[in-house]
Amino acid sequence: MIIAIDGPAAAGKGTLAKRIAAALGLPYLDTGILYRATAKRVLEAGADPADTKAALAAAQSLGKADLARTDLRDAATSRAASQVASIPEVRQALLDFQRHFGNSHGAVLDGRDIGTIIFPHADVKLFVTASVEARAERRYKECLARGEPVALVEVIADVQARDEADRTRAAAPLMKAPDAELIDTTHMNADEAFAYALARIRALTTHAAG
Ligand code: DC
Repeated sequence: MIIAIDGPAAAGKGTLAKRIAAALGLPYLDTGILYRATAKRVLEAGADPADTKAALAAAQSLGKADLARTDLRDAATSRAASQVASIPEVRQALLDFQRHFGNSHGAVLDGRDIGTIIFPHADVKLFVTASVEARAERRYKECLARGEPVALVEVIADVQARDEADRTRAAAPLMKAPDAELIDTTHMNADEAFAYALARIRALTTHAAG
């Protein structure tokens, strides 16, 4: 079973996808990590995240240790991740890994293009979103919890900029697959979003099986 969970930055996809994977006994892949780890390698090499050659070399050299890093969520890496993610060669280089991961034992994958490009025939596709304000406030609280000094207005601007970049890029832009189920979590907490999504997945898969 492949469950594709797409949506904009800070919509709560990661938390949701992880819980769904655990509930269904499926492996989980946060595909954003691939772009973040690529970006981190580029930045650490002192290269430009918009440079195709440097970004491709970084994507091709990713190993397990890169994906296990815990320092990939800061603002500079997030911005650079959005830049490397707009390069078609980088996306192509990361495609096989994602398909292989899913095809091995089934999986829950979250990202931007899982239901549109990576697994267009996924068993279930969810498009998880929330208002810009709600998403920025969640990201703001995460930053504070990590001890990062940020201003809410900056986080809002950052979320808006990443939305715009992810939606308008030519290569695999963020969009809802026509057959994806829309889940708006603006007025849901994490537990409510999880309960709702799991119920929808059960309904959709029972329906498909029957
Ligand atoms: O989900 P995230 O915030 O960790 O993603 C980091 C960046 O990577 C984000 O700007 C969009 C990009 N991304 C992508 O283009 N495709 C994916 N499947 C996952 C992430």
